[in-house]
Amino acid sequence: MSRPLLIAPSILSADFSKLGDEIRAVDRAGADWIHCDVMDGHFVPNITYGAPVIKAVRGASKKIFDVHLMIAPADPYLGDFAAAGADIITVHAEAGPHLDRSLQAIRALGKKAGVSLNPGTPESAIEYVLDRLDLILVMSVNPGFGGQSFIPAVVEKIRRVKALVGSRPIDIEVDGGITPETARQVVEAGANVLVAGSAVFKGGSEQSYRANIDAIRNATRLEV
Ligand code: DX5
Ligand code: ZN
Repeated sequence: MSRPLLIAPSILSADFSKLGDEIRAVDRAGADWIHCDVMDGHFVPNITYGAPVIKAVRGASKKIFDVHLMIAPADPYLGDFAAAGADIITVHAEAGPHLDRSLQAIRALGKKAGVSLNPGTPESAIEYVLDRLDLILVMSVNPGFGGQSFIPAVVEKIRRVKALVGSRPIDIEVDGGITPETARQVVEAGANVLVAGSAVFKGGSEQSYRANIDAIRNATRLEV
């Protein structure tokens, strides 16, 4: 059963001085989801923004807000991100000792639950929580910064994740170094949600965002 191909621009590459306008622009340009990268300077070596910023810009788009938490611990803040308007909340498998509990907590808040795997983390980390998952976010760079190069070994991991998921209704999302070229490889391996920051926001205008999103989408039409 194939799931729809979705493009989730990461607003980490947007102009933060006009974040609401950037979200409106990327929404009109064809984004399916809005991907929000939350970093704490502890789990990853960078700090971005938190729930108050997401809350402030939530009204800029009606699309799904896909919130990627690169924070440890995550559990104490799940309620804040739910209240800020997140639709999907993704935690890292490496970020805490009680992944099953974190996923239960996200669903108890009425949100979709995701788990992310760093490049060095095997897919077996999620084998026993599959039935608590709505989304698996496979990192194709080490999280912390936009604009890094795609790690090719991840393509095989996506194939294995896809096999593990089987017929369950779980989205497989890939994040880091996605360009039209790498997009095709990961979709061929089984991914259906593509996060892209620099490849979408380059150009700095709605017109370029539309062309950039179209280029990624067109590259994934596998029958072509
Ligand atoms: C990396 C973040 C990504 C990042 C992707 O830590 O989770 O979402 O913004 O950026 P690009 O697409 O530029 O690699
Ligand atoms: Zn991300």
